[in-house]
Amino acid sequence: MSRRPLIAGNWKMHKTPQEAQDFIERFLSFSCDGFDCDVLVIPPFTSLDRAGKCLLESSVFLGAQDMHPAASGAYTGAISANMLKSCQCSFVLAGHSERRHVFGDTNVVVNEKLQAALSNDLRPILCVGETLEEREADRTESVLEEQLAGGLKDVSELDLAHVVIAYEPVWAIGTGKTATTEQAQDTIAFIRAWIETRYSETASEAMRILYGGSVNPANAKSLQAQPDIDGALIGGASLDPDSFAQIIAEAMSLQGDDDPC
Ligand code: 13P
Repeated sequence: MSRRPLIAGNWKMHKTPQEAQDFIERFLSFSCDGFDCDVLVIPPFTSLDRAGKCLLESSVFLGAQDMHPAASGAYTGAISANMLKSCQCSFVLAGHSERRHVFGDTNVVVNEKLQAALSNDLRPILCVGETLEEREADRTESVLEEQLAGGLKDVSELDLAHVVIAYEPVWAIGTGKTATTEQAQDTIAFIRAWIETRYSETASEAMRILYGGSVNPANAKSLQAQPDIDGALIGGASLDPDSFAQIIAEAMSLQGDDDPC
């Protein structure tokens, strides 16, 4: 089964509405439409509405960085799924490592957000990844198992078809330290095998699993060449439209390439 790659730019806490518009206008001028992949931008909440309007005529998807599981209510500072959808969002991150480590999102909270996203027809991107300390203590697999089992608790195989997983080793985020292609491939293959054990071979073969952590135009092609890597979740290098477009072009330059390595 061939999985359609997804290349996503997580802007984190960057870009005002005007800056988002400037980015999108420049990015759309590159016409990445020719590539056989899905492209997604994930601006901060305050830029979603403007970004959604700028993307209306394009095939680029819009996503949010987080959401609250409740539909509405006394949750100061929070944003609901419906609010995201009113801005044309179709994806939402769940459990990004910065949400886990800076804001204290537990696996239980991540699961509540993921379930609420699914019930509201938003496609959640479940982010998982180990810290350097956990990798060095040989705990990568057990940490990932906990994050996967917790994040996907009570998610049916039918619903799983709408989920994307992003493997982002915490030690590679914003550090310039990318996982080697082998580390990324091996860990993502482990995640895929976990899906097969918990769900089915069909679910595992269909699951899009992205790599994130210091992806840039220079390493995008070799990461994407790995058999289990289905795209990228990019932070810093997605803030510049030229660099984001270059990453897409590099990653997708594998198409029709006999010897991608
Ligand atoms: P960097 O690409 O800046 O390492 O960030 C990765 C990330 O956290 C994307 O969600």
